[in-house]
Amino acid sequence: MLFSIPQALEEYKEFWLKFFPESASMTKQEAHGRVNDAISGSGSKLPDPQLVGYQDQVAEIYGAYEQLGPQLEGMKRLLEEIFVRDVEVKYPNLVSLGCGPGSYELWLLSKGFIEQVTLVDQSPAMLERACTIAEALGLAARVVIVNLEAQNTRLPSKCADVVLCINAMHWSRKWQEWIREAARLTKPGAPAFISFTADHARSKIQPQNFAREMRQYFQMQSAGFMQDVEALRQTATHNPTAFVAVSMRMFGCGKRLRHF
Ligand SMILES: C[S@@+](CC[C@H](N)C(=O)[O-])C[C@H]1O[C@@H](n2cnc3c(N)ncnc32)[C@H](O)[C@@H]1O
Repeated sequence: MLFSIPQALEEYKEFWLKFFPESASMTKQEAHGRVNDAISGSGSKLPDPQLVGYQDQVAEIYGAYEQLGPQLEGMKRLLEEIFVRDVEVKYPNLVSLGCGPGSYELWLLSKGFIEQVTLVDQSPAMLERACTIAEALGLAARVVIVNLEAQNTRLPSKCADVVLCINAMHWSRKWQEWIREAARLTKPGAPAFISFTADHARSKIQPQNFAREMRQYFQMQSAGFMQDVEALRQTATHNPTAFVAVSMRMFGCGKRLRHF
């Protein structure tokens, strides 16, 4: 497949603006206020399953709650680390844990990078939104929906040619079990891409603990910030008055070990 990352990101941007139109009409602050994020979401001390009501509300305004910029950074990393690293490798079945409305996964499906996707999320409304997008794209027959907690998907072991878990695990007290589940689902030698937000109010994940946990199951290929830190540094160096926004979104990407 002939492929240019800048072109792909333009196409993903169009996809995002089409299927998440609220991103143009509501700010992130308004969206976080609408769902009372500071109390009911990131600031909540409730056990993971009791966040479903909050997550269902977020689903309705997901495009404003999240921002296009970080989604594009996520997609860029994903393409670099997996889908354009070796264009000859095929990934028929993708499983995604904490998929939300499935923007990464459904775009990859629509572009032929994968043939089937299994979307796992505990929020019914997030999954409904993903289904609406899949139907609009004529791809619903290639989407499997699992409305369960990410650490207990009940899917068969080694069923996935690639596993994603993007910007979701920091919500869970059981994040180590998410990584273990990701490894259980990944075929030996196949890749998994796992990311989280280190400075999120609910996060219990320290970057060094994340790395240690990942190494139990995966031969690590790369890890670090989702953002291109070097590009940010260059911008700040060449234009000291530029506004450079840094986020604490981190990722790890590795191939599943044969035995663990
Ligand atoms: C910030 S969204 C990220 C969605 C998507 N991966 C993305 O990057 O666009 C986090 C998602 O994790 C899901 N989630 C949080 N805790 C979960 C759990 N214990 N089990 C399954 N899903 C969970 C939420 O419902 C939400 O859809």
